[in-house]
Amino acid sequence: MDLFINKAGCYSCHHGPNLTDNNYYNVGPKSEDLGRYNVTHNEADCGKFRTPGLRGLNFTGPYLHNGFEVTLEDVVHLYNVGGNAHPNKDPRLKPLGLTEDEELALVAFLRSMSGTPPKISQPMIP
Ligand code: HEC
Repeated sequence: MDLFINKAGCYSCHHGPNLTDNNYYNVGPKSEDLGRYNVTHNEADCGKFRTPGLRGLNFTGPYLHNGFEVTLEDVVHLYNVGGNAHPNKDPRLKPLGLTEDEELALVAFLRSMSGTPPKISQPMIP
């Protein structure tokens, strides 16, 4: 949690009860998808996606809007190298200098935010 809040800076976008600020950013994903631009037609929104909540991640992979990052280790590594280049990439996406152990600790923290998945039964059609 200390890494999440301080050294890795995740908390500046992922905060609140569901670990999201409900805002839109480009975090340098590998993708051609124009994201929020498709809705606003504003150049500055190219490649921006909504900050997702981080609860239940153990059950929701693969990750990012296109599922390009298969594991949480992959996602954390993408952040650690500062994401892929993009003109709209958020300035907070820069190399974080996390050691291999720190990457693993951050993944362990993300995994700790998954409870038992809720049981959802199929609605009965009368
Ligand atoms: C600038 C804001 C911002 C910062 C800082 C940030 N994130 Fe994110 N995060 C996002 C956005 C936006 C997405 C969705 C990106 C996409 O789908 O292309 C995302 C996606 C994710 C996902 C994928 C969730 C899913 O269900 O697919 C994880 C996991 C994640 N972030 C963890 C982290 C961690 C760990 C850090 C710190 C190292 C961090 N984030 C820092 C905005 C941010």
